[in-house]
Amino acid sequence: MAQPTDSFKQFHYGLRPSKQVERKIMIEVLLRLSKARYNISDYTYLGFGSVYYVDFVMFHKYLFMEEMVCVEWGDVEKRMRFNKPFKFIKLKLGALLNYIPSMRQTKKYLVWLDYDRSLDLEMLQDIDGCLNRMARQSIFIITIDARPKLPTDQFDLEDMMAEERERLTVETYQEWFGRHVEKEITLDTISRLHVAPLFYEVVVERMRQTEEIIANDRSLAAVREKASQNGGGAPTVKALAASRQLQNDLAQIGEWGIILRDPSIGLVDFLHQREGKTVCLCWKLGEPRVEWWHPIETGIAGRAHL
Ligand SMILES: C[S@@+](CC[C@H](N)C(=O)[O-])C[C@H]1O[C@@H](n2cnc3c(N)ncnc32)[C@H](O)[C@@H]1O
Repeated sequence: MAQPTDSFKQFHYGLRPSKQVERKIMIEVLLRLSKARYNISDYTYLGFGSVYYVDFVMFHKYLFMEEMVCVEWGDVEKRMRFNKPFKFIKLKLGALLNYIPSMRQTKKYLVWLDYDRSLDLEMLQDIDGCLNRMARQSIFIITIDARPKLPTDQFDLEDMMAEERERLTVETYQEWFGRHVEKEITLDTISRLHVAPLFYEVVVERMRQTEEIIANDRSLAAVREKASQNGGGAPTVKALAASRQLQNDLAQIGEWGIILRDPSIGLVDFLHQREGKTVCLCWKLGEPRVEWWHPIETGIAGRAHL
C-alpha cells in the first residue's frame, strides 16, 4: 500500500494559488451544472480535506453542501478532529480503499480525489472502487501529481544493503518498464538499458557537487595551507560534512563494483561479462543509456559500441 506523504507540512493548502485556482474552476463548473438540473447542494461530498479542510469550507460556502465525508490516512488524527470546521463533516480515518465499501450505491456523490503523489496502482483501485459505488449523475474528479516518478526516487541510496538494492532495482524496473520489454529482466539487462544511468547519475552528480563545495571552501584551503606550514585552524562544518560525504560516496560506489574513472566528467566503468570474458561497461554522465564497453586493460580510448 502507498504511504501517506504528509504534503500539508510543505505548504498550507489554503495558501497555494494553483490549488485555489483548481478549487475555483471546480466551483464554477459545479455552479453551472446546478443550473442544468444537477442539484449539487443535495450531493454528498467525498474528499481528502487534509488538516486544513479548505475544499470542504469552500464547497459548503459556495455550493451549500452539507453532507460531507472526509477521508484521511495520515497520522494526524488530533489535528483532523481539532480543525474540523463543521459538525456535519464525517471524518473517516484510514485509507480510502477501506472506506469505499461503506459508500451508498443509491447516493449521488461529488467525489474529489486530490492526491498528493503521482499515479500508482492503489489510485486505480480507488477509482475503480468509487465508480462502482456511485449512483448515476454522480460527479468524479481526480487530481494527481503530474510529474512522473523516476525509479531512482524510490531508492534511499545510503541506507540500503547491496542485495536489497539489487532486488529493488529489478522490481522497480519490472514495475515501470516491464510491460514494454519482452525478455526477462535481470540486473544485467538493467545495466544495459536505462536504470543504471539514472542510478549513477544521482551518485556521480552528488559527488561532483560535494567536490565543488570542498574546492570552493576557503576555510578548507586555509587549513590545508596552514597544515603545510605546520599550522592549525578548523575547516567549516559544511566543508567537513562535504568531505565526509565524499568519502562515504566513494566507499559506496566501490561496494557497488563501480570504478569511478573521472568524476569531473562523470565517467564510470563497471565490470560485466561479455562473451565469456570480464570487460568494463562504460558510461559518462549525460549519456542516456549504457552502450559502450572496453577491455579491462584499455581505457575509454578503446571503447566500442555494445
Ligand atoms: C492534496 S491533500 C488534499 C487537499 C484538499 N483537497 C484541499 O483542497 O485543500 C491530499 C490529502 O489526502 C490524503 N490522502 C492521499 N491519499 C489517500 C488515501 N488513499 N486515503 C486516505 N487519505 C489519502 C493525504 O494524506 C493528504 O492529506
